[in-house]
Amino acid sequence: MMSETMKAVRIHEYGGPEVLRYEDAPKPVAGPGQLLIRVAVAGVNPVDWKLRQGIMQSFWPLTLPATLGADFAGTVEAVGANVSAWKSGDVVWGGSSELGGYAEYIVVSEAAIAAKPDNISLKEAGGLYSVALTAWQGVHDHGRLQPGQTILIHAAAGGVGMFAVQFAKEAGAHVIGTASAKNEAFVRSLGVDSFIDYTSTRFEDAVQNADVVFDTVGGDTGTRSLAVLKSGGILVCIAGEPDRAEAARRGVTVEHFSMTLTPESLRAVSELVASGKVTTFISETFPLSEARAAQEASETGRTRGKIVLQVE
Ligand SMILES: NC(=O)c1ccc[n+]([C@@H]2O[C@H](COP(=O)([O-])OP(=O)(O)OC[C@H]3O[C@@H](n4cnc5c(N)ncnc54)[C@H](OP(=O)(O)O)[C@@H]3O)[C@@H](O)[C@H]2O)c1
Repeated sequence: MMSETMKAVRIHEYGGPEVLRYEDAPKPVAGPGQLLIRVAVAGVNPVDWKLRQGIMQSFWPLTLPATLGADFAGTVEAVGANVSAWKSGDVVWGGSSELGGYAEYIVVSEAAIAAKPDNISLKEAGGLYSVALTAWQGVHDHGRLQPGQTILIHAAAGGVGMFAVQFAKEAGAHVIGTASAKNEAFVRSLGVDSFIDYTSTRFEDAVQNADVVFDTVGGDTGTRSLAVLKSGGILVCIAGEPDRAEAARRGVTVEHFSMTLTPESLRAVSELVASGKVTTFISETFPLSEARAAQEASETGRTRGKIVLQVE
């Protein structure tokens, strides 16, 4: 007989890493159009600790207690009514804006998963969803990147940046990536045409007339990036907005967005990963019970590639 509870990492209040609790929680049940996934690996993203801190609650309030984590890879355990595309035993990856990934089981919409490609591990698949779909949408839907154009990608060694670099190269663009010197070899291995160590070089001094900038850093990086864009260029931002008046004065379009699931981006990411043209990199793996340490590592802002939680 199946247990009605499962292990999960939840918060009962907003706060620091100490509010994360590894504990028993109700095992979810798949409703119509949903699947119950046995989670093998869960991705860790900066949004997880931003939600935990409560700094996003004005526009993304949580119902407490809440299980954090959007990304996962695992096995379909059960399917709800009206699900025909998936069956018990299918090995999949995906995500959920309803969260719940830091747990042994998660319930998700059937639209939010894809089959795990044979050429990547569950660990690699578990950290794909948030960063790869965000990168795809930033490069294509918002950056509208064309072959031959030049794109500057900030934080090219991070989760989103790592994929943005590869998608931009696949699109036939000239790609410039920023990171600190310790990440130069990694960022070059992703395919950048040129690398800027932002700790020793002001990127404004090294880039002119870019068609697109993808700012995944926020703070003043977005406003400073306006100077490297040509008139008519596009600043894509996901971690904060630039000075809008300055952008207008320079004739730059600002595309600030939050990733939402689109079938096109999920399919495109799946195909590129399955083809082997795009790869991922997991730098740190923690057991589910050590989600606190995983979030503390993410909060340093120094993650190379992805951090994931091994759940089973
Ligand atoms: N709006 C959305 O839908 C959306 C979706 C996903 C993510 N986000 C946000 O986007 C941001 C990035 O996410 P992520 O998952 O890619 O983060 P991440 O993996 O934690 O990023 C870490 C990377 O940032 C680099 N970095 C830090 N400061 C930098 C700077 N000033 N210039 C260049 N690189 C810098 C670090 O490189 P060094 O160690 O070499 O400095 C490190 O490799 C987060 O704030 C996240 O919350 C938003």
